Amino acid sequence: MRTRANLQNQIREWRQAGETIGFVPTMGALHSGHLSLVRIAKKNATKVIASIFINPTQFAPGEDFDTYPRDESADRAKLDSVGCDLVYLPTVREMYPDGTKTNVRVEEMSDLLDGIYRPHFFYGVATVVARLFLHTQPDVAVFGEKDYQQLQIIRRMVRDLGFPIEIIGGETARDADGLAQSSRNLYLTPEERRIAPAMQAALHRASVRVTNGTLPSVALEEARTMIMAAGFTEMNYVSLVDPATLEDLPNAPLPQGTVARLLAAAWLGKTRLIDNISVTR
Ligand code: PAJ
Repeated sequence: MRTRANLQNQIREWRQAGETIGFVPTMGALHSGHLSLVRIAKKNATKVIASIFINPTQFAPGEDFDTYPRDESADRAKLDSVGCDLVYLPTVREMYPDGTKTNVRVEEMSDLLDGIYRPHFFYGVATVVARLFLHTQPDVAVFGEKDYQQLQIIRRMVRDLGFPIEIIGGETARDADGLAQSSRNLYLTPEERRIAPAMQAALHRASVRVTNGTLPSVALEEARTMIMAAGFTEMNYVSLVDPATLEDLPNAPLPQGTVARLLAAAWLGKTRLIDNISVTR
């Protein structure tokens, strides 16, 4: 389905029949991580809508908007296979019929971590997700923990603006060697693909170090060194943050009973990879 008008007719029918709606927004090039979110949505609603929209406002000039992988027929088949009820494929005109003078900015959280390296990225994400929520009017929406900062920003947006939508976080789907699945993994050369799981391994090691009482600054520096030694080409960050506000934790042994989040971003050749894990002490 490509138009908001058609979508809303279908939603109206479903609502009259007493159905509930789960929503999974994506940019396509679907992998089993995306499909796991559809499965979660199906458990939490009677009808599931997935959207495929490569959102131009979250790409900066020089980023991969033009080359982002597109494979609509494969994506539709994958969504069918997990029982997705409707695929919404709006055009840019449908999403932004009159441009975008009104933008959603979740202050502070959007400017940390990835926001430092991609300054307008989370404004574009929050704005398009708000619009997609208005188009799809879901009861629940599922986002991956793979993009942990995005998930927390969406939670905050929903809270601040009072969207009547429950946000569910889905666990990160990984390949057998631990690499977090990502549409951008398609960019990796075979050699880079071999190196890529080192990020996740370094995060795991850092989480063990921190839970053993090592100073965060020491554990994080070890993780950065490990990632670069494996063959990554440019470090962006490895950070230990408060899981809700995403602010850095103090550089002191993690107090017992604390839940924190470890996040990393680094370049591997032409591909920027991110990953994160939960840390509990
Ligand atoms: P995209 O990168 O296509 O991701 C769509 C959803 O799939 C996001 O919620 C993302 O966190 C989740 N996801 C990606 N890889 C995953 C994995 N390995 N395991 C579990 N979930 C995973 O994120 C976006 O698109 C866009 O920013 C969007 C929210 C659609 C707004 O344009």
